[in-house]
Amino acid sequence: MERKKEEFFEPPDAGVRTQHHNVEVRLENLTKEFTDKTGKVTVAVNDFNVTIPSGKLIGLLGPSGCGKSTTLYLISGLLKPTAGRIYFGDEDVTNMPPEKRGIGLVFQNYALYPHMTVRQNILFPLVNMKVPKQEALALAQEMAELVHIGDLMERKPNQLSGGQQQRVAIARALVKRPRVLLLDEPLSNLDARLRLQTREEIRRIQRETGITTIFVTHDQEEAMSISDEIVVMNEGIKQQMDRPQAVYEEPVNMFVAKFLGNPPINIFEADLIGGRLVLKDGEVVADGFTEPDQEVFIGFRPEYLRVSKNGKITAKTDLIEHIGRDTMILCEIEGYDHLIRAIVPNDMELKVGQTIKLDCVKLFVFNAETGERYR
Ligand SMILES: Nc1ncnc2c1ncn2[C@@H]1O[C@H](COP(=O)(O)OP(=O)(O)O)[C@@H](O)[C@H]1O
Ligand SMILES: [Mg+2]
Repeated sequence: MERKKEEFFEPPDAGVRTQHHNVEVRLENLTKEFTDKTGKVTVAVNDFNVTIPSGKLIGLLGPSGCGKSTTLYLISGLLKPTAGRIYFGDEDVTNMPPEKRGIGLVFQNYALYPHMTVRQNILFPLVNMKVPKQEALALAQEMAELVHIGDLMERKPNQLSGGQQQRVAIARALVKRPRVLLLDEPLSNLDARLRLQTREEIRRIQRETGITTIFVTHDQEEAMSISDEIVVMNEGIKQQMDRPQAVYEEPVNMFVAKFLGNPPINIFEADLIGGRLVLKDGEVVADGFTEPDQEVFIGFRPEYLRVSKNGKITAKTDLIEHIGRDTMILCEIEGYDHLIRAIVPNDMELKVGQTIKLDCVKLFVFNAETGERYR
């Protein structure tokens, strides 16, 4: 039987796009260098190795300029790596053009076509792929309903809120049934309330579709709340990959410890002397270290501190702030000229200017030069 070719979904990668295949994404020694006109080289992504498990949502987290977007563009194929390989499952996609990879890409600025309706925007990728009209319309409607904009199909983008526009962009990315969904700071243009709501929506959509998703953000709270696992990146280099709570509780180095947490971790200098950890006022706060004598940085999160009669850290309260269930105190500590933050239960009777003793239930110790964590 003769069928008119253009009425049907064009093969080359039909098997990829007609259904959701969840793939693992593997980056091996991935490196991207940019060379500017003067010959100066920027290593945006530096020997990056990571395996993103199939069907999971991974947050790629790091400060502005650390190489997050570049990593995403390498995975999408919009950029070619200087070195290294990219695998989707067992398939080496390093030299595969973007349109063959089966990826959905969503940017911060939505990038919707302003003259088209929501329906036309979502349909657009399918028109390019020559999906038959009835099937395309049904798919577009299904995706719109998935992202809860099924009743806005005739509107133009400028008649939608930022959050709704971003949902259209997500529906448009998903309608091709991509193998991998890549989101580059998708919430950055939204106000605080919409950001929270859209973030929960993305989580729901990811769970419902089960699509392998990489969510890029510089916002640690966002990454912590949405991700199955987070990859922390700095200056093109992977620092750590683990479940959010594990990265928070067991950072591998001082960069990760400082980048996660709000209010931030307290960090200050101390000395390792004969295996003992000694504060600048002479108090020993821990022992049993095997590293040679040296100055180190110690870190403890505000919630790791306890006010206690026998506490080893002597502090004078500077500011007391009630924050819901807890109280945050800012205090000066003996031997140091900078302040630390502690979060303690509200029922403590504390006054400004009072001298207190603090104990910490957990502390980190870092090499002062490399930031590597000793304990
Ligand atoms: N096309 C480019 N040409 C030259 N340098 C670039 C280019 N794209 C990115 N960079 C540089 O690579 C580094 C990483 O950038 P990017 O991946 O955009 O970081 P992020 O998304 O984490 O903010 C930055 O130093 C940036 O200036
Ligand atoms: Mg970026």
